[in-house]
Amino acid sequence: MRSILLKREYVFYGNLILVNGEHKIKEEVKKYNLKPFDEKYPNILLDYNANLELQNILKEIGSERKIVPVSGYRDFTEQVEIYENSLKENGERFTKKYVAYPNCSEHQTGLAIDLALSQKNIDFIRPKFPYTGICKKFRNVMAEYGFIERYTKDKEQITRIASEEWHFRYVGFPHSKIIIQNHMCLEEYIQYLKDFEFGKKALTFEGYEISYIKMNEDMKQIQIEDNEMITISGNNDDGIIITKKVRK
Ligand code: DAL
Ligand code: ZN
Repeated sequence: MRSILLKREYVFYGNLILVNGEHKIKEEVKKYNLKPFDEKYPNILLDYNANLELQNILKEIGSERKIVPVSGYRDFTEQVEIYENSLKENGERFTKKYVAYPNCSEHQTGLAIDLALSQKNIDFIRPKFPYTGICKKFRNVMAEYGFIERYTKDKEQITRIASEEWHFRYVGFPHSKIIIQNHMCLEEYIQYLKDFEFGKKALTFEGYEISYIKMNEDMKQIQIEDNEMITISGNNDDGIIITKKVRK
């Protein structure tokens, strides 16, 4: 048995943080965790693990640059520029649908990437990533590598962002698979996990046990068995999600 000390500030870090109009990004990304997509796109940065898994997907489906990155990590200033330029060029209605307000954008986490089917003219705000061909192949395997399509048509009322077929978010496995199998968006999943209070109840899935701890104190100590591996992530709201796997 070992004990792990959870600190309140952990609520704002990790693969599962929910960033939207109601949950602003609270902690700047640690820049050393960001890596270029690859040598051809040195300016498109992504969280280290998210990028590793993304490259694994592209390799598995034989993308051979038929899928290209359009926008990855953005800092606050860049999100402001994109938002303001879009206001000028496309107006308020369009901008609110397709561009998150600065500090409300997942792109500021390094965990989101916009992808396009390689073409001559790629639209920066609304690239094409259809539900056919190589892009379909991508969607078929992405959950195994921790990715979800973040803004779908049926969840527009919850996410408050229009359907974005090009925007993918890394949440990590098995969360990606659970979200997709249950037809949830990230907002719904984060809420759903609050029913699984650590030490009382867990969501079990393919050998994983997932539970949630509300961080209403500055620190909390939890006990973990020696044969259990855990990863933790904040939800960027009020708590921490513990993902456990028992080592056989
Ligand atoms: N296009 C997404 C919503 C963003 O700007 O973060
Ligand atoms: Zn995006």
